[in-house]
Amino acid sequence: MEPSDLAVREMPEPELGPGMVRVGVRAAGCNFFDILMVRGQYQVRPPFPFTPGAELAGVVEAVGPGVREFAPGDRVMASAGLGAFAERAVVPARSVYRLPEGMSFEAGAAFPIVYPTSYAALVFRAPVKPGEWLLVHAAAGGVGIAAVQIGKLLGARVIGTAGGDDKLEVARKAGADVAIDYRREDWVARVQEVTEGRGADVIYDSVGGDITGASLKCIAWNGRLLVIGFASGHIPEVKLNRVLLKNISLVGLHWGAHAMHEPARVGETFDALFGLYARGAVEPIIYRRYPLDDLPAALEVLGSRQSYGKVVVTP
Ligand SMILES: NC(=O)c1ccc[n+]([C@@H]2O[C@H](COP(=O)([O-])OP(=O)(O)OC[C@H]3O[C@@H](n4cnc5c(N)ncnc54)[C@H](OP(=O)(O)O)[C@@H]3O)[C@@H](O)[C@H]2O)c1
Repeated sequence: MEPSDLAVREMPEPELGPGMVRVGVRAAGCNFFDILMVRGQYQVRPPFPFTPGAELAGVVEAVGPGVREFAPGDRVMASAGLGAFAERAVVPARSVYRLPEGMSFEAGAAFPIVYPTSYAALVFRAPVKPGEWLLVHAAAGGVGIAAVQIGKLLGARVIGTAGGDDKLEVARKAGADVAIDYRREDWVARVQEVTEGRGADVIYDSVGGDITGASLKCIAWNGRLLVIGFASGHIPEVKLNRVLLKNISLVGLHWGAHAMHEPARVGETFDALFGLYARGAVEPIIYRRYPLDDLPAALEVLGSRQSYGKVVVTP
């Protein structure tokens, strides 16, 4: 199945069980993995038919038994797993967060997956140290922009790669010190040049494919390659001799799994990110808004590499 096959249908009201919160969805964020899920190519394969959509913001309509943290009327964001592309969604209370003051529903829908993913990767997994060189691939994409913004806050010198002038500009605006068009330039040579032969200390790789192997040619001694995703559609095989010879680490981060295995880190991550948002230090960039009926077009613009930042659907 393709995103173009998606259709809006009346569905039974989602059931509100214990520990669950029903949210009237005002905005839902599109993620690259929504497309993979619809195609049945993602690691999570819900049985068809299902309602995709993993990031949402809206207003609490009702809470299930045992939920005390939220009440009807609260403005919230949530990572839903599934079901965000809808007028109403039922999500576990543990995945719901109050919208910080001043945050719009659209920004809220563009927040609860990409920002924690990049924060956990750069702070817990890499971790990035002040003064280090951070190379972010697809730096104008959803997780990429978040990585650039957070990398700068950690004191890194940030190089962003992206395809096309518009996206390079977006990466620069997000804070990249250097922006390289990796579809037109010899980006490996440019990274070596910019870092004066040192290479990048941390590489944030949400693209995979050939980009990963080439990244190992411009990674620094003791470097860390963060494995975030495979937007290229290809899961690469890595020549381990480079890992050995350059003393580097391949470090994976899957936010959903991280949150499940290390739940204590979730609150810490959101507290830190909301603090940064309040200071104006992180800010989601919205490429375009689509009504729910136009969800196929929203996912098409994301999957065809036209968009930057976040594409948002407003039911
Ligand atoms: N590890 C985690 O917990 C986690 C969480 C969220 C997302 N992810 C993964 O991270 C990846 C990016 O997600 P996202 O939501 O940030 O996506 P996104 O906003 O669409 O960004 C993806 C970018 O990848 C680049 N790209 C390179 N080759 C591509 C290709 N063949 N087709 C499409 N795009 C290509 C494009 O930028 P250029 O045009 O500039 O090349 C595109 O804009 C996905 O694989 C997703 O599953 C992982």
